[in-house]
Amino acid sequence: MNPRPSKVDFAAPYDKLYTPEVGSWTKEKYRLFWCYADLFATSMKDKWDQRVYVDLFAGAGHVRVGENGPYLRGTPLLALRVVHPFDWYVFCDQDPNCISALRKRVERLRPSAEVRYVPGDVNHITSQLVKAMPPLGSGKKVLAFCFADPFRLRDLHFTTIRALAQRYMDFMVLIPAMDPRRNEATYLDPSSDVVDLFVGTPAWREEWGNKQNAMTFDTFVAEFFSGQISHLGYTHGGLQDSLLVRSTEKNLPLYRLGFYSRHELGKRFWKEARRYSNPQMDLL
Ligand SMILES: C[S@@+](CC[C@H](N)C(=O)[O-])C[C@H]1O[C@@H](n2cnc3c(N)ncnc32)[C@H](O)[C@@H]1O
Repeated sequence: MNPRPSKVDFAAPYDKLYTPEVGSWTKEKYRLFWCYADLFATSMKDKWDQRVYVDLFAGAGHVRVGENGPYLRGTPLLALRVVHPFDWYVFCDQDPNCISALRKRVERLRPSAEVRYVPGDVNHITSQLVKAMPPLGSGKKVLAFCFADPFRLRDLHFTTIRALAQRYMDFMVLIPAMDPRRNEATYLDPSSDVVDLFVGTPAWREEWGNKQNAMTFDTFVAEFFSGQISHLGYTHGGLQDSLLVRSTEKNLPLYRLGFYSRHELGKRFWKEARRYSNPQMDLL
């Protein structure tokens, strides 16, 4: 029988702590995130000794939709609320306000959770991140799920993904679409290294020369990035299985949620997560 994600309440209480504002489309991200995280944590419980959740762009733990909208729990707190909690959590953010609010919220929600905070720019502290995970060589089988949720392409370097991929790790990555659409001319300028860093090589320029009449720049960046991850042995998931999220008002592409796994099982969970997170299914 196929596993099924548990029900969840995304609503967060107002707690006076630092809370960034987000767009109305954020709930779609949280629904898919929740479904995958919950399926992963439950289904891998008896197969691995330690299940680790790594949030590279963790935020403050709560968000508010618009100026006057509802408060929601962000990805680190959702990951702490899965029915069979992960054995270990690693949270990174470069904003000290986020890390400080997140610590307090985690302390209130799950004071006994095994959590490591790694403040700073994820691309410059990757070795600290890897060290914050359970050590290798302890005889324990460790499997991680990592979510990368950058605002813009420049926030995530491919070297970070490559370093983390040395461990057993599935990735869910938010691949910005609006950013490359808006800044296409800037990023195509030879002086810009934003796309080089995001995809891990300047070789994309030549390929874009051959493909620019066939696809939009944001689709090309997502496709090239997915191809780069597949070179690390991530043969399951990828662009064809990603979810394109559009803005509620103008229906413009905002980002894609891509998934990358080295295992067939990961792809199966992702497919289920996609199905259950569809609001029309009304299952959450
Ligand atoms: C879209 S928010 C993520 C929110 C979180 N995943 C959630 O759902 O609640 C992006 C976060 O990444 C942080 N950030 C941006 N660039 C970063 C970087 N290079 N390294 C670490 N954190 C970064 C920002 O401070 C912000 O809190």
